[in-house]
Amino acid sequence: MDNEKVLTDYDRITINYEKKPCYDIVITDHFGASLLEELQRLAIENRKVAVIADSNTAGLFGRTVTELLDGNCRQTLLHVFPAGEEHKTLDTVKEIYRVLIEAKFDRRDLLIALGGGVVGDVTGYAAATYLRGVDFVQIPTTLIAQSDSSIGGKTGVDFDGYKNMVGAFHMPKLVYMNVSALKELDDRQFYAGFAEVMKHGLIKDAMFYEWLLENMYEIHDRDPATLTEMVRRSCMVKKLVVEKDPKELGDRAMLNFGHTIGHAIEKYMHFKMLHGECITLGMVAAAYLSWKRNWLSKDEYYEVRDMFVPFQLPISIDSIDPEEILRLTKSDKKMEGDHVKFVLLKKIGKAVIDRTVTDEEILEAVREIYFSDEDARE
Ligand SMILES: NC(=O)c1ccc[n+]([C@@H]2O[C@H](COP(=O)([O-])OP(=O)(O)OC[C@H]3O[C@@H](n4cnc5c(N)ncnc54)[C@H](O)[C@@H]3O)[C@@H](O)[C@H]2O)c1
Repeated sequence: MDNEKVLTDYDRITINYEKKPCYDIVITDHFGASLLEELQRLAIENRKVAVIADSNTAGLFGRTVTELLDGNCRQTLLHVFPAGEEHKTLDTVKEIYRVLIEAKFDRRDLLIALGGGVVGDVTGYAAATYLRGVDFVQIPTTLIAQSDSSIGGKTGVDFDGYKNMVGAFHMPKLVYMNVSALKELDDRQFYAGFAEVMKHGLIKDAMFYEWLLENMYEIHDRDPATLTEMVRRSCMVKKLVVEKDPKELGDRAMLNFGHTIGHAIEKYMHFKMLHGECITLGMVAAAYLSWKRNWLSKDEYYEVRDMFVPFQLPISIDSIDPEEILRLTKSDKKMEGDHVKFVLLKKIGKAVIDRTVTDEEILEAVREIYFSDEDARE
């Protein structure tokens, strides 16, 4: 495609693993010759390639990507599974194994995850485990996936209602992002992804947080240049965190800001609310606790809380039982012995992992976001 802009370093971020370059993130606004070029660097002409998509992304982008591959690799196949978190399961992974075995995929072959965080996590896990590990590429198509989940090599599935309970670290060989894919997302999904973007500003980059507030209208309009910059800055935060702590033994846990209470709400609501909506509530609760510890000022807490509103994200919820949410935080993976590893904000742009948060504090924070019928009557 002649009119494609030439990729510059600006569009390419290299992620290091154990201090060595491991894979590139390429940020563009198209699927075209540059995607093929990037894949050709992985010698696809000698490999079979399975594109794994869900029932939405297959229709939206499956043909474009498989047509690009056809004739440029040994064999192309497209495997589609039903969209939705409820399909982020071992059964879906089993289906992928079956397809790969039938098509005689061997260890040199390649999987491509074409979709959001669910497709990325499932495909990554299948790639990590099929024949003890095959290469995979991420082509993330949601804002959550572009700003967060496709980077860092965490793969996995949910198990018996527990989020991401089974998984593996498996680094992709390439992450190729087309920000124009985000135009197809419905508003609710887009804003749920925005919650993770905001999280990155809050935990690690105060200037990015300010930038997000300043560019609110352009973000609403999904202006391509603004989205490219937003995704790039979000990826830079994720890069800093995962390079320092690739296996989540320490600092990487700060990416779980909002997730302790967020996951508990997600589970309580039987995954009827979107992940980003639940972690927004969790972030508000964690910001509240940060204020109560005098780390954030009252004004900062209210600013953090209220800035989610224009992005159509919830800052309170009426359909929960706070005691039950507290109980559910205990079944979270982020426990260490009896203590929850809670992520709080020391200040805007600086998260800390705190192991001293008590049950009473968690309950108080959940009550802060709990909007009861009595509140409504007042
Ligand atoms: N691995 C990690 O480090 C990590 C980090 C954060 C989140 N996650 C996981 O990511 C998942 C959430 O990600 P998600 O919100 O992308 O979920 P998702 O993959 O379910 O995508 C959301 C919906 O958008 C659809 N979709 C995808 N791309 C689209 C597009 N361009 N246009 C229109 N519709 C599109 C999907 O088909 C789906 O219906 C959760 O399972 C979460 O646990 C993983």
